[in-house]
Amino acid sequence: IAESDMTFIRMHEYMTGLYHQLLVNTNEGEKALQYLLDRGFPMDLIRSEQIGYAPEMSKFATNALLEQKYNEETAYQAGLVSRNEENFSYYDRFVGRIMIPIKNHQGHLVGYTARSIDGSEPKYLNTPETEIFKKRELFFNLHDARKHIRKLDNIILMEGHLDVLKVKTTNVKHIVATMGTELSQENLNLLERLSSNVTIMFDGDSAGRNATLKVGDTLLKRGLNVYVQKVPDKMDPDEYIETFGAVKFEQFIADEQQHYLHFKAEVLRHEAKENDMKLTQHLNTLASDLQFVRDHLTAERLVVTISSIFGVDKQALSGIIPEPVRRQP
Ligand code: UTP
Ligand code: MN
Ligand code: MN
Ligand code: MN
Ligand code: MN
Repeated sequence: IAESDMTFIRMHEYMTGLYHQLLVNTNEGEKALQYLLDRGFPMDLIRSEQIGYAPEMSKFATNALLEQKYNEETAYQAGLVSRNEENFSYYDRFVGRIMIPIKNHQGHLVGYTARSIDGSEPKYLNTPETEIFKKRELFFNLHDARKHIRKLDNIILMEGHLDVLKVKTTNVKHIVATMGTELSQENLNLLERLSSNVTIMFDGDSAGRNATLKVGDTLLKRGLNVYVQKVPDKMDPDEYIETFGAVKFEQFIADEQQHYLHFKAEVLRHEAKENDMKLTQHLNTLASDLQFVRDHLTAERLVVTISSIFGVDKQALSGIIPEPVRRQP
C-alpha cells in the first residue's frame, strides 16, 4: 500500500473512533443512538461495526484532523472534508449524520455512507471517489463475508447498507451490497472469481424489481448461476427481519431461493396481462435466456416451470431455445 493511501486510511481510523465515541458516549449522539436502537440495530453490532455520529458542527472533522497534524488539503483529498471553491476554506462534509464505516476488501477503513436522521436530503451521503475509495471496485462487507461466500459458494447481493448490517445480526453472513444498484465491470469480474452462485436480494418495490431484472440478465449472460430471493412487496431485508424475526429470515434464505429465470418468467407473465403479442415476445426472450443456463438439469426444470407459467407445451418451448445449447426434451 502506498504511503499516501496509508495516511488516508489512518485518518479514517482516527475519525471513525471519534464518531463512534460521540454516538455511544455523548449527549450529542443520544438521538442518533436511539434512532439505531429503535430500528433494531443492537449495541454489539453498533460496536463491532464502529458505527458513529457526525455532530452538527461545521468544523468537527476539519479541526480534529488539523489537531492530529493532517493538513486540510489532505483531509479534503481523503474525502473527509469539503472545500468552498470561492474562498478555499474547508468545512465538514458529514454533519448531523449516522456514520457507517466502509472497509475495503483488505479490511481497511476507506469511506462512509452517512444517513440523515432529520429527513434532510440526501438520505444517504457517501464518501466521494478518492484514491482509496473507488466505488466501482468495492462491495460493502466483502471483507467480512468472504470466508462465508467461499464456504457456501454463494453470495447474496443487497441494495442497502443497513440491510446488510441488519442481516449480520442473523446467521446469514454471505452478504454484500454494491455502492448503488449498478454493477460495474470491476464488480462483475470480482463476482465471477468469488462464487459460481449469485443471489439477488433487492428491495421488494418496483425499483428493486427493475434492478433485479437488469442485474440478473447481466449475471446470467456471464454464465453465473443466478438466483433471486424475493422480498415480500414493499419490504426490504431489514424490514423483513424487523417484521418476521431472524429465525424466519434464516428459513426464508434456506428455503426460497428462486432461479432468476423463474422470477423473470413470473414478472413477464404478469406484465403481459392478456396481450398475446407480448406473451409471445416474452416467451421468445425467455427461450433465448435459457441458452445461458449451463447446468443441464436446471435448464430442464426451468423449461417445465416457464412453460407452465405461460401455459405452453414444454416441448414447444425447448424447441425454440437457440443453438448451440439447445436442450433435449
Ligand atoms: P433505500 O432507499 O432502499 O434505503 O436505498 P435503505 O437502504 O432501505 O435505507 P433506510 O432503511 O431507509 O435507512 C438503497 C440504497 O441506495 C443508496 C444507498 O446505498 C442505500 O442503502 N442510496 C439511497 C444512496 O446512496 N443515497 C440516497 O439518498 C438513497
Ligand atoms: Mn430501495
Ligand atoms: Mn430500509
Ligand atoms: Mn431499502
Ligand atoms: Mn413460482
